[in-house]
Amino acid sequence: YSSPTLIIAVDGYSSCGKSTTAKQVAARLGYAYIDTGAMYRAVTLFFLRNGVELDDADGIRRALDSISISFRFDPVTGRNETYLNGDPVEGEIRMLYVANAVSKVSALPQVRQSMVTLQHQMGKKRGIVMDGRDIGTHVFPDAELKVFMTADPLIRAERRQAELLAKGTIVGLNEILENIKKRDHDDTTRAVSPLRRAHDSILLDTSYRTVDEQIEWVIQAARERMTQL
Ligand code: DC
Repeated sequence: YSSPTLIIAVDGYSSCGKSTTAKQVAARLGYAYIDTGAMYRAVTLFFLRNGVELDDADGIRRALDSISISFRFDPVTGRNETYLNGDPVEGEIRMLYVANAVSKVSALPQVRQSMVTLQHQMGKKRGIVMDGRDIGTHVFPDAELKVFMTADPLIRAERRQAELLAKGTIVGLNEILENIKKRDHDDTTRAVSPLRRAHDSILLDTSYRTVDEQIEWVIQAARERMTQL
């Protein structure tokens, strides 16, 4: 007897600890972790590097046809490396110039269609934890477990500020808070696949939880779900 393998969808606002939680849950369950935000970031990096214009439908089609994206999790470092056409790009896609361009690129229907096709292929073997904005609502509407993560914007801003400080960057709390509010607004109001809480998702508010508590909470929910299948 082996436990049923689930598709676990983790959606929610930015800076709630989605990727940290999803990555560790995947490691604990022996599942693959798929960071769909990293996929949109990798496409954005490719567009920037190759001068793909956002109003050039043919150029975008050609670019998407020539992009391959994959992930490799290193259990020793706990790092999930993203590969774009075979090159490691995890560091680069987290840079500000990519972050600033990704929301326009990820709003293009052509780009979303192409990424969703890829995400379906990656999920074929099941046993995955996929995090993003539209996984439970659009990519895998039949996922056995859907988690929707949220947290108080001020608490998210304080965490983000501490993270930046640890990297040696000092940024004012208000600036970070405004940025978080803008991203929430962009994510929830865009025309294509906006961030919505799936009606059959369970809500995980991380405002007053530690990372370990968040992980444990999702693992418990997953085990419970497995006994129901
Ligand atoms: O989670 P993140 O910050 O790495 O996401 C990067 C961008 O991609 C962000 O603008 C939201 C977008 N995104 C999306 O549109 N759909 C997803 N499934 C995941 C991310």
